[in-house]
Amino acid sequence: MNSEPELPKQTVASLAARKGKACIPALTAYDYPIARLLDEAGVPLLLVGDSLGMVVLGHPDTTLVTMDDMVHHTRAVANARPRALIGADLPYRTYDTPEQAVSSARRLVDAGAEYVKAEGGTEILPQIEAILDAGIPFCGHLGMLPQHVVEEGGKYRIKGRDDEGRTRLVQDALALESAGVFACVLELVTPPVAQEITTRCKRMLTIGIGSGEGCDGQILVTPDLVGSFPWFTPRFVTPRARTGEAMRQAVSDWVRALNPG
Ligand code: KIV
Repeated sequence: MNSEPELPKQTVASLAARKGKACIPALTAYDYPIARLLDEAGVPLLLVGDSLGMVVLGHPDTTLVTMDDMVHHTRAVANARPRALIGADLPYRTYDTPEQAVSSARRLVDAGAEYVKAEGGTEILPQIEAILDAGIPFCGHLGMLPQHVVEEGGKYRIKGRDDEGRTRLVQDALALESAGVFACVLELVTPPVAQEITTRCKRMLTIGIGSGEGCDGQILVTPDLVGSFPWFTPRFVTPRARTGEAMRQAVSDWVRALNPG
């Protein structure tokens, strides 16, 4: 088997120590085999992303993902016992108040998550503080917020292009860092703004997606990277494999072999 040298079990502290040193690779995982393969390939940071709504459950966006969906998939990923730190997304409308945020986060932790992630800046600070006060590590998500894309007219727009957007993003990132957030996904943020946040945040890790190379880490939706959801690939991703096509080919070869001639 072609696997990377084993990593020690990853923690918030071991990942935080990589700030400013090595780029942190992060990928989404939704089930046991993916989590196990990513772990064997040496990925230190996993996320059970609510992107599973689209790439696993066949929904048009992330807003239909439920708490039960997230618990089910987080459990499957945790069953792989990866050395990677496992995180899970709080789905849409499951963190409207601090009390609800803590009880939702606890359900994900009980299912095996070692950190939780939610979308938003200062507008969800009371929820973030309540989660941190409950002793649960938190990862932020700023920039393009997929859970709000329907409200914004269904377009996945780049953030931080004008002065107002840039200032808001930087202020949100600094507020999250002051609250004790250990990492923050920056999705579709203009590269200079992502770079500025990465430099100004001295402790909080920035994990970019479609936000340039200046972040502390890079995250991708695994099916985008390995071509297992071939019907849509974001513009900023170059798939490194075409597993969907390989599967189609293997299955059609088998179907033909059963009825030769
Ligand atoms: O849901 C998800 O997969 C995510 C990543 C794109 C960061 O939030």
